Amino acid sequence: MSADDQKRISGEAAAQLVESGMIVGLGTGSTAAWFVKALAARGLTGIKGVPTSEATAALATELGIPLLDLNDAPEIDLTVDGADEIGPGLSLIKGGGAALLREKLVWEASKRCVVIADAAKKVETLGKFALPIEVVAFGHLSTSRRICDALSECDIGMPPRLRLKDGAPVKTDGGNLIYDVACGRIEDPSALAAALKSVTGVVEHGLFLDLAEEALLGTDNGIVRLQP
Ligand code: 5RP
Repeated sequence: MSADDQKRISGEAAAQLVESGMIVGLGTGSTAAWFVKALAARGLTGIKGVPTSEATAALATELGIPLLDLNDAPEIDLTVDGADEIGPGLSLIKGGGAALLREKLVWEASKRCVVIADAAKKVETLGKFALPIEVVAFGHLSTSRRICDALSECDIGMPPRLRLKDGAPVKTDGGNLIYDVACGRIEDPSALAAALKSVTGVVEHGLFLDLAEEALLGTDNGIVRLQP
C-alpha cells in the first residue's frame, strides 16, 4: 500500500469517529485532507468544522462543511489532524505544513485529539524530522540566535534554518516565519519545549506533547490504534 493509501485509510477511519452535531477541529496537510473528504462524504447533519489553516478552510468550504471560528467554539468535541512524527507516548512533531500555531490553538481547545498518519510517521525517538518553530518576522535573525542558545541548553548543536520556498521566506497564515531545526534526536522533548517557549519572538514550536489521545496509523495491514 502506498503512503498516500495509508493516509487515506487513516483519514477514513477517523471520519467514523464523528457524530452528528459535533464541532470538529479540522487538521492541515495531506492526511487531514483525506479526513475532511471522508467527513464530507458522510453527510452528517449539524456538524461544524473549525479549520486549522486557510487551505483546510478552503477545502472544507468546497466540500460543503460549515465552518466555525475558533472564537465561537469554546469547546471542540474532536480534532483530527496529521503529524510529521509520532514518538513515545504519542509525543508529536507537527508543522511540516507551517500550520502549527493554528493547529495547537485548535488542539488545546479540544476535548479529544486524534492523530492520523501513514505508518512511516511512527518513530522510536523524535527528531529525525526537522522541528518547525514559528517566529515573529520582526527581528527574526536576532530571535534565531536566541533559539540557538535555547537549543544548546538542550545539547542540540544544529542551527535553526529559515524555511524558504522559491527563494523567499515561507509565511504562515498568521504572517509569521518558520525556522526548522534538524535536531537529530530529541532526548527530552519537554525540556526542549520549555526552552523554546522561553524565547521572546518564538510564537510556537511543533512539539505537541500530552495532547493526542489516540493515533490511527494507516498500515499495510489496516488501521493500527496507538494510545499514549
Ligand atoms: C501541518 C502539519 C501536518 O499535519 C503534517 O505536516 C503532516 O502532513 P501530511 O499529512 O501531509 O504528511 O503539521 O502543519
